[in-house]
Amino acid sequence: MYLGDAAIGLKPGSVKKLRVVALRYKPAEIGWGWADRTNRVYGAEALPITQYGASVMPIASPSGAFDVKVILGDVPVEADGSAHFTVPARTPVYFQLLDDRGRAVQTMRSWTTLQPGEIQSCVGCHENKNTTPLVQGASGTTAALRAAPRALTPFYGHERGFSYIREIQPILDRHCVRCHQVGGLNPRFPLTAERVRSPFPEGSKQGRYSKRWWLRPYLTLTDYDPTVTPVPYRTSTRWLKWIGRLSDPPLQPPYQYGAVVSPLFDLLVAGHGGRVALSAEELEKLAA
Ligand code: HEC
Ligand code: HEC
Repeated sequence: MYLGDAAIGLKPGSVKKLRVVALRYKPAEIGWGWADRTNRVYGAEALPITQYGASVMPIASPSGAFDVKVILGDVPVEADGSAHFTVPARTPVYFQLLDDRGRAVQTMRSWTTLQPGEIQSCVGCHENKNTTPLVQGASGTTAALRAAPRALTPFYGHERGFSYIREIQPILDRHCVRCHQVGGLNPRFPLTAERVRSPFPEGSKQGRYSKRWWLRPYLTLTDYDPTVTPVPYRTSTRWLKWIGRLSDPPLQPPYQYGAVVSPLFDLLVAGHGGRVALSAEELEKLAA
């Protein structure tokens, strides 16, 4: 876990769990898409690609990846940085390394898949094929390999696509909405479960063809301004940082994206000036 370019800056012992996430590919465009650059399928005139790209993505991803993510579960990482586990066959999966708060310190942006009965090792795929990590101790093997492969521990319930509406909004409803709404203490930063038709201006082409609905907090937190087109490509706001769909191909150093570097998470862990007390489960869901 702590070897190779992707681990530079990763303190030994800081990774507590490895998370396996499966991808379900989105089979169809949502509303106006960019499959046909000239939009002839829709019988409409052409628009520059950037103006309607946002409607190809599922609601969960302004400037993010397109696929529905299913958290299959987590396995503990041993003190020596090793992990040994089973994953479902014929399923595209990727991995995240989690810290003691369930925050991903490193995320694999591509995916791999295994056939029934296939055994695969991480080492060698990311680094020079002729390198093997030095194994410490007399056993000549890693702590994880000495034990049987572990089953994944499910993420708070049955296998499901990670849904903002099901996982995150209820947390905001419970803890934030009473202040973050019109008439509350902070109406400027609305977090109410109000549905917004699309981020595009009423009557605009994009608004007409995009079939997306958004929840208000999503726009608040990602700082989407409905009046600005083309939709700017952004991967951070003052409160959040996420992996953009155009992130650089080379291996990225740890601690680049997500809750681990998002000020919002620190604000909530610190209790937001005594205003909120979130449970471990709620924080882990927000971190995910
Ligand atoms: C089939 C080849 C393959 C296998 C096997 C594989 N990976 Fe990856 N992994 C990649 C590729 C390609 C990337 C680089 C692109 C990216 O960031 O996704 C990557 C990137 C990563 C990253 C992000 C690093 C960075 O800097 O972007 C992590 C973390 C990671 N892999 C963890 C794992 C773990 C843990 C395993 C074993 C359980 C594993 N990978 C097995 C191909 C593989
Ligand atoms: C008791 C009222 C109250 C509750 C509950 C509350 N907030 Fe706030 N929040 C405020 C006020 C007031 C501010 C304005 C800045 C300040 O005084 O800290 C604020 C500011 C913020 C900010 C900074 C944005 C800005 O306005 O500049 C964020 C982000 C935030 N809150 C998120 C949340 C989240 C997420 C929750 C729920 C988990 C939450 N708040 C719950 C009252 C509240």
